[in-house]
Amino acid sequence: MINISGLYKSFSHQEVLKDINLDIAQGEILAILGESGAGKSVLLQHLIGLLKPDKGMIKIQEKDISLFKEKDWLSLRKKIGYLFQDGALYDFMTVFENVAFPLKEHTKLSDEVISAKVEEVLKTVDLQNVEEKYPSELSGGMRKRAALARAVILDSGFLFCDEPTSGLDPIRSREIMDLIKNISRKFNTTTVITSHDMKNSFRIADKLAIIRDGELVAKGTAQELKFINDVFVKEFLK
Ligand SMILES: Nc1ncnc2c1ncn2[C@@H]1O[C@H](COP(=O)(O)OP(=O)(O)O)[C@@H](O)[C@H]1O
Ligand SMILES: [Mg+2]
Repeated sequence: MINISGLYKSFSHQEVLKDINLDIAQGEILAILGESGAGKSVLLQHLIGLLKPDKGMIKIQEKDISLFKEKDWLSLRKKIGYLFQDGALYDFMTVFENVAFPLKEHTKLSDEVISAKVEEVLKTVDLQNVEEKYPSELSGGMRKRAALARAVILDSGFLFCDEPTSGLDPIRSREIMDLIKNISRKFNTTTVITSHDMKNSFRIADKLAIIRDGELVAKGTAQELKFINDVFVKEFLK
């Protein structure tokens, strides 16, 4: 459960987020849509504590993260899988090492258990025989899959993905979005993605939120959005 209320954020004189109010239910997939520069990534970065609100409240599992100190984040971050838009993997580590990294960092599991978990999650994202490869040896789609595997290996309850289809062709985009849906359901994660990929977002998300210039102009199910009487929203959804 995530509750965002009255969230404001500015950078120097630019107001980037204005009075964002949004609730995300446990186990739900929410897609945050909007044009480039609308504030999608800035909003997502607040959810992992990379940015702090100027004003407003963000609660994750009833805890107000805007009040968090660094030590509070250390324990919450274990529960959050994050798929960065780019530079998603460590170039100097193999796929195996990349995916195993959160387990080595945050758990005391044995090497055998870690190996088994990595193997299982790589299977879930449909990656085989690439454990010993380095990210530079993979295609863009495979890198996204490996990054997704790493994001969910802790079985963490939250999965946040910033533009998961950026840089991918339409077929790979569809695949990675389907994978996000399958993984969210399998691990029962509360999932937030940002995207400008309308078609796939509508296909996989339970709820959608549209941001324009830092303001939330529409939110609801795909069905509900069709009935929103706003020129921008109607134009955007065309
Ligand atoms: N760390 C930052 N410092 C200053 N400005 C930023 C920062 N991050 C984002 N911005 C600005 O905030 C606006 C929204 O950015 P962003 O959330 O990345 O948009 P998008 O919806 O494309 O993800 C943009 O104008 C961007 O230049
Ligand atoms: Mg962005």
